[in-house]
Amino acid sequence: MRYYMPTKVYSGECCVSEHRKEIASFGKKALIVTGAHSARANGSYDDVTAALDSEGIAYALYDKVEENPSVETIMEAREFGVREGADFVIGIGGGSPMDAAKAIALMIRNQDKPWEYLYTADPAASWLPVICIPTTCGTGSEVTAVSVLTNHALGTKASIKHAIFPELALIDGRYLSKAPLSVLRNTAVDALAHLVETHINADRTDYSDMCVAAGLSVWSRSKDVLLGNREGTSEDYCNMMTASTMGGMAIAQTGTSLPHALGYKLTYELGMPHGKACGHFLQNYIREASEAEQAFVLEHAGFASVDEMESFYQAVCGRESVDPSLLADSVSRLLADPARLAKASFPVDETVIRRIAGLE
Ligand SMILES: [Fe+2]
Repeated sequence: MRYYMPTKVYSGECCVSEHRKEIASFGKKALIVTGAHSARANGSYDDVTAALDSEGIAYALYDKVEENPSVETIMEAREFGVREGADFVIGIGGGSPMDAAKAIALMIRNQDKPWEYLYTADPAASWLPVICIPTTCGTGSEVTAVSVLTNHALGTKASIKHAIFPELALIDGRYLSKAPLSVLRNTAVDALAHLVETHINADRTDYSDMCVAAGLSVWSRSKDVLLGNREGTSEDYCNMMTASTMGGMAIAQTGTSLPHALGYKLTYELGMPHGKACGHFLQNYIREASEAEQAFVLEHAGFASVDEMESFYQAVCGRESVDPSLLADSVSRLLADPARLAKASFPVDETVIRRIAGLE
């Protein structure tokens, strides 16, 4: 068994300000990578710039990371970062800016390389230090080595071939308090999918289960907030962030499984939010698992049955009917990906995958 998650994590209110000296220790000029609006709206951008200012560290802002960032965006940000002389990268936001920050850090360090280098395995690769500050509660990217980019050449989303763990993750639940309920819902379902797909996974270990068990029970505490039955408290926001980070620690051990693989195409073709797209397949995936696996995830997540979990999914995300030809396309892509198929903890063939996709 192996457990590896080398990112140092600080969690708690005002942790960015509290750890500003450590943030400043990574370089002389930061490239701040974020989306257009939310980092400013939720206070995280101001916290980061105040911390850098107080330590006399310069910074440049690249705030053009879109949802499901493209390879083109990474290359544009690389040019910008090189021009600005950035020597470390701070990603602030949901999975998109954090994933982009990792890829940008790689490409700035390797400034003579073309975009194909993102998808070229290189054991000798190096990158600038990355700090991640999540402002949604799903991706867990702050504690994973994954960077998923939209690749128009491949016609889907795909993870780069470099395992880039951030040096530092700073997790402050306050940043969730201004997030729209739809963002909380979609990202919390992503966190749920990470935790479930780590347990129902051929590479599951007792160490990864430690993350899953704790992550699901923390996750389950805020279901009522996601259902809209009550307002979120600061404790809820902290719990949602913690569950998301634990989900990241979990997938850092095993990788995601079939629901994520099937979900990418729905996001690429329909613009369906990532968490909702993975959740679309999650219940059917659980139904294929052993009784013991089902009991483990349902018990820790606080659902009496898979049907109850499906009702929860419908209430928070809404189940969309997806064109069968698109689902069939997702199925054939997955069938052509033996590494991903091998993540399932049960035997799979085309019929099983079609059942998970809702085609049988
Ligand atoms: Fe995910």
